[in-house]
Amino acid sequence: MEALFSVCSNSLFSSLQNHKNKTLLPFLTSDSRLSSSQLKSQSRVSLKSHDFHDFPPLVASRRRVLKCRSSNEQLETSFDESESLKNGVRRKNLAVFVSGGGSNFRAVHQAILSGDVHGRFVVLVTNKHDCGGAQYARENGIPVIIYPSTKKEPEGLSSNDLVAALSTYKIDFILLAGYLKLIPSELIRAYPNSILNIHPSLLPAFGGKGYYGTKVHKAVIASGARRYSGPTIHFVDENYDTGRILAQRIVPVVVNDTAEELAARVLRQEHKMYAEVAAAICEERVIWREDGVPIIRSKADPEHYS
Ligand code: GRF
Repeated sequence: MEALFSVCSNSLFSSLQNHKNKTLLPFLTSDSRLSSSQLKSQSRVSLKSHDFHDFPPLVASRRRVLKCRSSNEQLETSFDESESLKNGVRRKNLAVFVSGGGSNFRAVHQAILSGDVHGRFVVLVTNKHDCGGAQYARENGIPVIIYPSTKKEPEGLSSNDLVAALSTYKIDFILLAGYLKLIPSELIRAYPNSILNIHPSLLPAFGGKGYYGTKVHKAVIASGARRYSGPTIHFVDENYDTGRILAQRIVPVVVNDTAEELAARVLRQEHKMYAEVAAAICEERVIWREDGVPIIRSKADPEHYS
């Protein structure tokens, strides 16, 4: 199958960056895992972890090889999956979607580097190739994919090509971290219960179309009805900010707050919460309650959920 997409990364694909024709043919060595659609079961169970045990046991020394070929050159990179089991749990492959500075992405990446999150960012998707998040990704050897295709970003992918490109990275979870474009339904269907978004208010309040960035915090302050705000992490469905809520943190709204002050206070909590939630999903501690509400099992006390 030939998938058409553009990939840029300083360390992995730097020699491709100035090519006008960015037609690449990505492929992975054969892998014994099930396809992503087989793995992403929608079934919900009572207090039962995600069905990651569907994965065949990881061979400790397995080496994944990613080859990318353009018209006149062939590049190869690989990452060693040895020692990727921690307490019997496989290290998870994460994709992140970013449109701006990417401070949440950086916070989770730092938590990975410090060993607090048993995952790895294998690709970043952005609608702005030169945004701060994309620059940070390239500096850290993380491939960058542009989506969608627009006049400003003509090399962006179509929705189907995005899904095809992501499938080559064997993504377990997608983290949206300040990505301002709509997520295509093709992607949501390909990754059920596996895409998370962070929103800077206590959903369902101050969410939905038009509520983004400072607008959220201005609306919170203007409402006068709220003494508290705070970030929400939720699973992504086909509408804005309506997916199942996974985690929230409370942040006080101070009487004389400006939107910027409130945003900064909320953002500090976002960074902590996204790292904690990323740790939970990577350690398979997200449980689906019978009524469809996702909850997180505490690492310190497995009898406790939040
Ligand atoms: C955050 O406030 C997040 O809640 C919202 O977009 C912002 C992204 O900020 N979805 P950053 O790019 O992670 O700094």
